[in-house]
Amino acid sequence: MTINATVKGAGFRPASRISSIGVSEILKIGVRAGAMKREGKPVIILGAGEPDFDTPDHIKQAAWEAIQRGETKYTALDGTPELKAAIREKFERENGLAYGLDEITVGTGAKQILFNAMMATVDSGDEVIIPTPYWTSYSDIVQISGGRPVLIACDASSGFRLTAERLEAAITPRTRWVLLNSPSNPSGAAYGAEDYRPLLDVLLRHPHVWLLVDDMYEHIVYDDFRFVTPAQLEPRLNDRTLTVNGVSKAYAMTGWRIGYAGGPRELIKAMAVVQSQSTSCPSSVSQAASVAALNGPQDFLKDRADSFKRRRDLVVAGLNAIDGLDCRVPEGAFYTFSGCAGMLGKVTPNGKTIGTDADFCAYLLDDAHVAVVPGSAFGLSPFFRISYATSEAELKEALTRIAAACGRLS
Ligand SMILES: Cc1ncc(COP(=O)(O)O)c(C=O)c1O
Repeated sequence: MTINATVKGAGFRPASRISSIGVSEILKIGVRAGAMKREGKPVIILGAGEPDFDTPDHIKQAAWEAIQRGETKYTALDGTPELKAAIREKFERENGLAYGLDEITVGTGAKQILFNAMMATVDSGDEVIIPTPYWTSYSDIVQISGGRPVLIACDASSGFRLTAERLEAAITPRTRWVLLNSPSNPSGAAYGAEDYRPLLDVLLRHPHVWLLVDDMYEHIVYDDFRFVTPAQLEPRLNDRTLTVNGVSKAYAMTGWRIGYAGGPRELIKAMAVVQSQSTSCPSSVSQAASVAALNGPQDFLKDRADSFKRRRDLVVAGLNAIDGLDCRVPEGAFYTFSGCAGMLGKVTPNGKTIGTDADFCAYLLDDAHVAVVPGSAFGLSPFFRISYATSEAELKEALTRIAAACGRLS
């Protein structure tokens, strides 16, 4: 008998386009926390980027009816006419935007929409401006498309928002896009009309720069914050603005994988070319469900946002009561992004020095059995993100444990 001594996968060589992209910190923490849970440790995971609510029944029902009608085949490449019409209505009703059906595209999640947009427009070496802290996928998608992410640190002193001066200074002849996300994952910070205005004025002076806005958390805003989107504020930029949104967060539909965007016809067409050679079309059943989401009752969105607000208040107050932590009150989304500079240099009961936010998060996981994500995963340190899309009881328990763990540092 011959023994095949070849090591499996030894000849594998990844393409250079993914060689600089590591496994995300969020995924690594999730894997460790999951393993600890399986060992029987009482881990509370505050890392998930999805609502803990269920998809509403009328949306599930619409999906079931679509299956019964036989809508189980390929659909039009970048969205069924019914879903595009529902999206057009949504943009008109909620944002005062008038897109034609050929200015709307639907993909398998907003993530695919972003991917399509970058693949369709970014050439090798093109620059894409991304304020930090950012949703991790932005820079990875830009890199996969061959572009160069230009990261601009926007710390708590600017409310985690990009300023006109910093934007102006970052623009070069190679700048292709600016990516803005409001409310933001991970900071929860949002841009009001008065925050957007100076940025839009800068962009008016640089006609080669396009604007991508990710409005995914539009419906999760608090207090008297008024959501706006740039295409609404500055029509002169509409021939170079892509407005991205989706049903994942607002309608608790993360697993259905539907995202969409409105933008200039030629860009939308180019994005469809990319999609045609990756997924062909979004899921037929999920598109039918999304029609029901966008055309159906919207009143529960406010109730859900109110529930998230109670949890935000609980978490912000709990964190700010801990010496050494500093948490800004977020305007939206379901994340807090708290400063932990006061913890650096402290020593754990095991004698380890906390040197970084990643060390602090590792300590919280080991000592308090609470999984949170370090700011380094989002391009800004020393901070950590908590997702508060979980029960109030679990949040209270997590905060008690975090406070006790911080109290054990010397
Ligand atoms: C800011 C932001 N944009 C887009 C997405 C992607 O959403 P989708 O589920 O539609 O791909 C997420 C998901 O976490 C997000 O946080």
